[in-house]
Amino acid sequence: MTVTGAPQAYVTGWKGFYRREFAVNEHVLVPRPETEHLIEDALEFMREPKRRRVLDVGTGSGAIACTIASEISDAIVTASDVSLPALFVAAHNATRLGVAERCTFTLADIAPEGEGSYDLIIANLPYIPSADVPQKPDPVGFEPSVATDGGADGLEEYRKLLARAPGLVRAGALVLMEAAPPTMAGLLALARAAFPEAAITVHRDYAGLERYVRIATR
Ligand SMILES: C[S@@+](CC[C@H](N)C(=O)[O-])C[C@H]1O[C@@H](n2cnc3c(N)ncnc32)[C@H](O)[C@@H]1O
Repeated sequence: MTVTGAPQAYVTGWKGFYRREFAVNEHVLVPRPETEHLIEDALEFMREPKRRRVLDVGTGSGAIACTIASEISDAIVTASDVSLPALFVAAHNATRLGVAERCTFTLADIAPEGEGSYDLIIANLPYIPSADVPQKPDPVGFEPSVATDGGADGLEEYRKLLARAPGLVRAGALVLMEAAPPTMAGLLALARAAFPEAAITVHRDYAGLERYVRIATR
């Protein structure tokens, strides 16, 4: 038997996420249970009438995009990634789950140009500071660095997102961004600077750790 530290999901090719199975490979982050907290929040928001347009930034396996499209039958989801191989995985999952007609997977840095008026932006961008990204044989070391390495302070990609986000949302939109305790204060400060009028809160996961920033725009 060969022992590597590779995530089990890369060996089996599958990972469960929010009641569904997702095909995964070494080009995508293995979906994490912590991300389901953002999904719960997103679904509650999207169940209100007239909320349809969703942007999933950094879609990876498509776990977030496909889950929202599966749970909200009239949701229209744009899902971006800078990784073409990841987009193939996401599109495959959307087809398998029967939501491909309402999901658009696009090779884009943060978001496609010229689009806006999203009701919901949901993002799980890389947020580990470069110096802290675990290396093999740690299982995270097997995941693509584009999915884990958030630059010097872990906030490089979120800085890009928050520079654009005010122009991407309509009034009354929701923005959800996953991170971890070491980067949460920095992410919160960026969120407040980008949306000075919004109601902004930090939410914890079941382990009691700060897990995501929630921006409710006015
Ligand atoms: C932490 S993974 C999250 C994957 C998936 N959303 C999930 O929750 O399982 C981050 C993803 O963001 C993508 N990414 C990194 N920088 C990006 C950028 N500037 N614009 C769009 N996607 C980006 C990576 O390729 C990777 O697929």
